[in-house]
Amino acid sequence: MRELSLHILDCLENAIEAGATRIALTVEEDSALDRLAITVEDNGKGMPAELVARVLDPFVTTRQTRHVGLGLPLLAAAAERAGGQVLVQSTPGAGTRIMAVFQLRHWDRAPLGDLPATVLAVLLGQPPVDLAYRHCVDGREFVCDTAELREALGDVPLSQPQVRSWLREYLQEGIASLERPYP
Ligand SMILES: Nc1ncnc2c1ncn2[C@@H]1O[C@H](COP(=O)(O)OP(=O)(O)O)[C@@H](O)[C@H]1O
Ligand SMILES: [Mg+2]
Repeated sequence: MRELSLHILDCLENAIEAGATRIALTVEEDSALDRLAITVEDNGKGMPAELVARVLDPFVTTRQTRHVGLGLPLLAAAAERAGGQVLVQSTPGAGTRIMAVFQLRHWDRAPLGDLPATVLAVLLGQPPVDLAYRHCVDGREFVCDTAELREALGDVPLSQPQVRSWLREYLQEGIASLERPYP
């Protein structure tokens, strides 16, 4: 079973490939509703309706380099195994919104995996993008918005070693602090 953070990384990479400069990643866990929702929203080039309609089918890709085209179908399969589904909304020239919903406590729901590492990989990657990450567990919330961090840091890059290790701890502690009432 693939950890959900790997599917999230796929979606973030799709957004970057689509030329996004700003990505919002939201993870919402609601134990009362038994629902986990992961949303990745970007301001990249978007997709025409004809591609949106096919994008959850295996082997659909617009890549010229390597022909994989399994990122979104694998996410859809993971969601469907766990009593959920994937919704794709996109507007050419404006951006894309991918939302994956799962039954939180479903036996076949994959674990979230290492979200701090996933977020950090995108924050420190090239080209630079702004990432607004919001993670909620039953109303408790952790937020990390790189646009705000960059503003506070001025000329100091996020990749500066001290900033980088501070960021890693900040993400790890912030996510760990969202105590869960379920295993
Ligand atoms: N966020 C996005 N913005 C624009 N196009 C996207 C986005 N996500 C996916 N796509 C389109 O859907 C295709 C399939 O995506 P995916 O299933 O991840 O396979 P791959 O990335 O290997 O092509 C991509 O090639 C791209 O054309
Ligand atoms: Mg992909």
